Amino acid sequence: MYRSHTCGELREEHIDNIVTLSGWVHKTRDKGFVVWIDLRDRFGITQLIFDEERTSKELLEQARSLGREFVIQIKGTVLERASKNANIPTGNIEVLVQELTILNESKTPPFTIEDDTDGGEDIRMKYRYLDIRRNTVKNNLIFRSKVSMEVRKYLSDGGFIEVETPYLIKSTPEGARDFVVPSRMNEGQFYALPQSPQTFKQLLMVGGMDKYFQIVKCFRDEDLRADRQPEFTQIDCEMAFVEQEDILNAFEGLTKHLLKEIKGIDITSFPRVTYDDAMAKYGNDKPDIRFGMEFGELNAVAQHKEFNVFNTAELVVGIAIPGAATYTRKEIDKLIDWIRRPQVGAKGMVYVKCNEDGSFKSSVDKFYDQEDLANWAKVTGAKAGDLICVLSGDTNATRAQLSALRMEMAERLGLRKPEEFAPLWVIDFPLLELDEETGNYHAMHHPFTSPKPGQLELLDTNPGAVKANAYDLVLNGNEIGGGSIRIHDKETQATMFKHLGFTPEEAKAQFGFLMDAFQYGAPPHGGIAFGLDRLVSILGGQETIRDFIAFPKNNSGRDVMIDAPAPIDDEQLKELRLQLNLES
Ligand code: AMO
Repeated sequence: MYRSHTCGELREEHIDNIVTLSGWVHKTRDKGFVVWIDLRDRFGITQLIFDEERTSKELLEQARSLGREFVIQIKGTVLERASKNANIPTGNIEVLVQELTILNESKTPPFTIEDDTDGGEDIRMKYRYLDIRRNTVKNNLIFRSKVSMEVRKYLSDGGFIEVETPYLIKSTPEGARDFVVPSRMNEGQFYALPQSPQTFKQLLMVGGMDKYFQIVKCFRDEDLRADRQPEFTQIDCEMAFVEQEDILNAFEGLTKHLLKEIKGIDITSFPRVTYDDAMAKYGNDKPDIRFGMEFGELNAVAQHKEFNVFNTAELVVGIAIPGAATYTRKEIDKLIDWIRRPQVGAKGMVYVKCNEDGSFKSSVDKFYDQEDLANWAKVTGAKAGDLICVLSGDTNATRAQLSALRMEMAERLGLRKPEEFAPLWVIDFPLLELDEETGNYHAMHHPFTSPKPGQLELLDTNPGAVKANAYDLVLNGNEIGGGSIRIHDKETQATMFKHLGFTPEEAKAQFGFLMDAFQYGAPPHGGIAFGLDRLVSILGGQETIRDFIAFPKNNSGRDVMIDAPAPIDDEQLKELRLQLNLES
C-alpha cells in the first residue's frame, strides 16, 4: 500500500496515528539538528520531521540526500506541531518519519514548482507536466473538471442524451480553415477534422434523439489569440421541436445553474439585446455590460455647425468616461495616441471636459458653445467630472474604434471586475455578412441557420437586411456560446446555398447527405454550442484559455512539449501516396 492518507488529509484528530504517505519532495529545510521536508501531492502538503533526538542517523542522512521533486514514501507518527501554520489545512500537525523509501529520483526541475514560479511561459510549456504540479495550473484543471461535471449533471437531468459524433469527417463550414487528414485506404482523398459537430447533431435530430449534447473537441485552423486554440472543446447541444425562446430559456437555465453552483452567484438579470442595438450602444456584438459608458449618437446635436470633420461623417458618437475630466492635456494626448495606433485606427478624437461647476471645456470650443456641449453631455449621459470622448467617420469603423476605447478605459478604471458576472443574449443576428474584399455574402453563423419567419423573400432584394433566428451568449465581454434555429426543409436549404454562391452541384457534393435527410421527416430543430474553454476561464476570472487546458498549443499552433506538428517520414508519405512540394 503506497499510502494510508493523502498529503492534504491529516488534522489534529490524527495525532498519534501511524500513517503512510507518498508524494513529491517540495522543499527541504535543514537546521542541522532537525530536517523538515514538505511532502506534496495533488491534495496538499504535509510537513515531515526528522531530528537528531528521535530519528536514526542513517535516516537523517537519507532525508538530507533527497533532492527537489524526488518521489518518496514514508511511514511515521502524526504529531502536534510546535509552531503551527494557519495558512495550510495540515498546518497543525507534522509527521515524525520512521521509514523512508525513495520511489523515484528526479533531476532538478528547470523551474520552481511554486505559485510564483521563476519559469517563463516557453519553458513551462516544454515541461508542462511539471507546470501541472504547480497549484495555479492544477487548480485550473480541477476547476475545469468541476464545471464539466456540473454541465453534464444539468443537461442529463434535463433529459439530454450524450452522443459521440465522428472526428474523421468532411468539411463543416464554421468560417475557419479545416485541418485535414489523408486517407491511406482512399488514395488522394482526405478527411476533415470537425470544426464543430454541426451537421451530425442535426442528423441526430432527424434520427429522433430529440435532446442531444456532447462535450466535444473541435478543430479550426485559424489565427490564434488569447481566447482561441486550434483544438478546443464545445458543449454542443441540439433540441427538436423547439423555437428560439425554448433554447434561450434552456441555456439561460444552464448558465444560471453554473454561476450558482460554481461561483455561488444568483443571476437575477439576463437581458436580451438585439444585434443592431448592441452595435449601436456598445459598438460590439459581445458587449461587456458590467459597466455603463454606453454610446451616445451625436449626429443630431453635433452636425450642421461649422465643424466640417463632423459634418462629413456618417456617424458622430461619444462616450462619457467617469471621473476623467481631471485628465491633463498630456494624458489626453496619450489617449489620442492610443486610439490612433493601427490596431484601433481612429484618425483623431474630440473631447469635452465636464467641469464640476457645470461648465464644459472642449477641444472644439471654437465651433460649439456651452449649450451645444450640454446637449452632448445629455446624449452621452455624462455627469460633472466626466470626460466625453467623441469619434466620427464611417459607422462600422467608428463604432469599432469607440468600442476599443470603451473597453480600454473600463480596464484602466478597474471596471472589468473578474468576480462580477453579467451574462446576456445577443439576438436577431443578420443572416448574411458581406465580404468587403470579394463582394460576396457569406453566412454570419453558418449556412444551416434559419432566416426569421417571413424574411426569406428579402434574400433576393436586400440580402444584408435579412435577420436570422441566431443568438450568442455573452459573458463579461466574451462570446461564450452561439447557436440558431435551423433550416429543416430541403427547399429553403437549397435557396440558402444558392445565395451563398454554391451551384446546385456543389451544394449536393458537399451537403447532399443533409438535404437528403431533410426529405425523411426532419423535425423543426435548433441548438447552441458553448466554448467550454472560454466558459471555464471566464468563470475562473481570466480570459486566457490556455491556462485552463492541460496541454495547449502556443501562438504558432505548436505543442512544444511533444514537438508537434512534425515532418513525417518518407515511408509514411509513400504509403499515403503524398508528395511534398514545399517550394511552391
Ligand atoms: P461557433 O462557431 O459560434 O458555433 O462556436 C461556438 C463557441 O465555441 C467557442 N469557440 C472557440 N473556443 C476556443 N477556440 C476557438 N478557436 C473557438 N472557436 C469557437 C466560442 C463560440 O461561441 N456549430 C455552431 C453552434 C451551433 O450553431 O449550435 C458553432 O460551432 O465560445
